[in-house]
Amino acid sequence: MDTRGLVTIDDLTDGEIEEIFHLADGMESVAQRPSKQSFGAGKIMATLFYEPSTRTRLSFESAMHRLGGAVISCPDMRSSSAAKGESIADTAKVVSSYADILVVRHYWDGAVQAMAEHADVPVINAGDGSHEHPTQTLCDLYTLRREKGKLKGLTVAICGDLKHGRTIHSLVYALARFGVNVIILAAKGMELPDFVVDRLDTLYHYSPIPVPAGDLNAVVTSTDAVYLTPNQPHQLALFTQSNLDVEGQLSKAASGLKLDAFYITRQQKERKAEDNSTDEAEYPRIDERFLKIKRFKETVVMHPLPRVDELSPVIDKDRRGIYFKQAAYGVPIRMALLKLLFDASEAKRPRPAPKKILLYENPEPVGPQCSNAVCVTRTEVLSTRPRFEVLFTGPGSGLILRCLYCDHQLRVRFIGHSTSKRYCSYDLTLAETIREWLKCGELTVFESIKQAEEQDYEPYKTGPQRTIMDESEIQEAIHQMAEQILSEPQGPIPLLVLGIRTKGVFIAKRMVAELVKQGRKTEVGEIEVFGTPEENGDRPSIASMDSSPLNIKGRPVILVDDVIHTGRTVKSALSIIFKSGRPRSVRLAVLIDRGHREVPVKPNYIGKHIPSSERERVRVKLREVEKDERDKVVIYSVINPTVSGKQTLTG
Ligand code: CP
Repeated sequence: MDTRGLVTIDDLTDGEIEEIFHLADGMESVAQRPSKQSFGAGKIMATLFYEPSTRTRLSFESAMHRLGGAVISCPDMRSSSAAKGESIADTAKVVSSYADILVVRHYWDGAVQAMAEHADVPVINAGDGSHEHPTQTLCDLYTLRREKGKLKGLTVAICGDLKHGRTIHSLVYALARFGVNVIILAAKGMELPDFVVDRLDTLYHYSPIPVPAGDLNAVVTSTDAVYLTPNQPHQLALFTQSNLDVEGQLSKAASGLKLDAFYITRQQKERKAEDNSTDEAEYPRIDERFLKIKRFKETVVMHPLPRVDELSPVIDKDRRGIYFKQAAYGVPIRMALLKLLFDASEAKRPRPAPKKILLYENPEPVGPQCSNAVCVTRTEVLSTRPRFEVLFTGPGSGLILRCLYCDHQLRVRFIGHSTSKRYCSYDLTLAETIREWLKCGELTVFESIKQAEEQDYEPYKTGPQRTIMDESEIQEAIHQMAEQILSEPQGPIPLLVLGIRTKGVFIAKRMVAELVKQGRKTEVGEIEVFGTPEENGDRPSIASMDSSPLNIKGRPVILVDDVIHTGRTVKSALSIIFKSGRPRSVRLAVLIDRGHREVPVKPNYIGKHIPSSERERVRVKLREVEKDERDKVVIYSVINPTVSGKQTLTG
C-alpha cells in the first residue's frame, strides 16, 4: 500500500522539513493548551520498540496524546509474540490493522524499511540498528535553527562514536542538505562508515578533507584523547562544495575555528559485539574546560542523549548546554511530523518523486548477500529479499551494489547473463553491457566462480579445453591425501570429513572410503556456503549425508574442496563452521591448488598444484555430477562478452 512514512531522513524534502519546523512552532502552544479539535482525534498510533528508549518513545506517545489521538503499545517487545519467533513482517502487517501509524525501533539495520514494506499504514523509523534515526535529526536541526536563527553556513563539529551512531548518520545527511559545514571528530576506531561518506559524496557532493590535528586540538579539552594526535589521520572535515574556496574554508575552520555547535554522542556499547571498539579511556569527553575556552563562547553543546560520562553535568548549568531543549522539542517536532504524515496519507499531499535508481534483484535463487551481517536481509530472510541500487562509480571504477535496506555497499566481482547462463569477472569495459542486461532483468551477480558454477553457469566463452588430470590421476591424488591423513597421529575423537558442496562432498566421500578401508573411524558430512537454510530447502548449513544437522563442537574436522583459488569459499566455510560451534581443529584438503590467494588460507593436503592465470579456469569434472563423463580436470581460457561479441548474448 502506498503510505507516507519516514524511514530515512531523505523521505522528507527540504521544504517538508521546513514545514515541520513551522508546524512545530505552532505545536508548542497546542501542547500547552490542548484543543478539542486536535489533528489526531480518532487516530491510533502503535509504538513497537524492540530496543530501550526514553525520549523517542515517550515524546512520540506524548505528541499523539497532545494531538488528541490514542496510543497502543507493547511495554516490552520480549513480551510480544516476537518472543515466540514471530517475524517483524507479520508483526507489521497485524499491528497495522489495529493502528493508523506505527512507530518502530529495532536493533537490525534496515528493519524499519522491511516493516514498512509489509505494513498497510505509515511507519516511522525511531532508530534502526546503526543505520538511521531521522526523527532525532528533526529535533537536532530544529534546536540548532532556533538557537542560531539559521542553518546554512553554520559550522558544526560532530564527535564520538560516528560508526554506530544512527543519530549521526541521519544528521550528517541533513546538515549537508541544509548547507552546514561539518567537522568530523571520530573516536579512534569509530570513524564515519564508508556507506555514509559515499552517500555524502554521491548525493550531496560533500567531500571529506583532512584537517591538521593540531588545529583542532583545542576543540575537546581532554588533551590526551588519542583521536586528536597528529598520527591518527581520522579527523575529517566536510565542507559544502558548491565551488567554494575549500582551502579558505579549511583555514578559517581549522585556525580561526568559529564553531557554532559541538555535537557529542555516547559510545554505542550495545553494538560493540560487532567489532573491536576503542577502550573507554580513549573515548572523548567534554567538561568545564570547554566552557572556559574563549573561542567557544558562542558554541552550543548538543547531545541526542542518553549520555553516559562523555558529557559533564557541569555543562547543564551553562546557557550553551542545549541538550535538554533538544529532548523537549521532541514533542512539538513529533506532533508536527505526525500531522504532516496523516495529512499526506489522506492524499492531501503527493509523495515526493522517488529518486531514479538502477535497481538490482537477483533472478536466481542464490545471489549476493548484503555485506552487513546485521542487515535485516540477512537476519530475517523470509520477509526480505536482497535488493540493491547499482552504482558504477565505486573505488577504482568498480561495480558496486548498495543495499536498499541498510545502505552498505558490496563490490561485484563476477557477473552473469541469466538467459545464456554464462558468467565472467566484471571489468569496466562491461558497464554498457551490464546496463542492457539490467534493463532486460537478465543480470546475475555472483560472489565467486564457485557460486556461478553451482548454479550451472558456464564461463562466458571459452577457448579450447586441455585435460590436465585423468581419472586414474584423480584417484591417485585422493589416495595420497588419505595416506597423508593416516600417517598423522589419531586422536580419541573420530574425524569428521566435511565436503564443501557440491564437488567437495564427492571428493570427501571418496577420501572417507579410503580412510575407512584402512580402519580409521571417520564420518562424512557436507557444508553449504551459499544461500541460507531457507534458500537451500531448509537443509542445515552443516549436515550429515541424510541432511540432519551435524554437531561439530570439539571434533577434528577436515574440510574438503575440489579447487582452491582466491580462498574466499574456504573462508566462508570456516566462518560457518566457527559460528556453529568450536571444533577441536580444522584442516583443509583440496584436489587442486591454483594459487593466487586473496586471504591467508593454506591447505594441509593438496592433490595437485596447478598454477594458472586469472584468465584461465580449472574445472574438476566428476562422474557423480556430470553423469555421462569420466572423471577429469580441464583447463581453458575465458573470453569476456565484449570480446566474444553480441551473438553470445543468447548463448
Ligand atoms: N535520543 C534518543 O533516541 O533517546 P532514546 O534512546 O531515549 O529514545
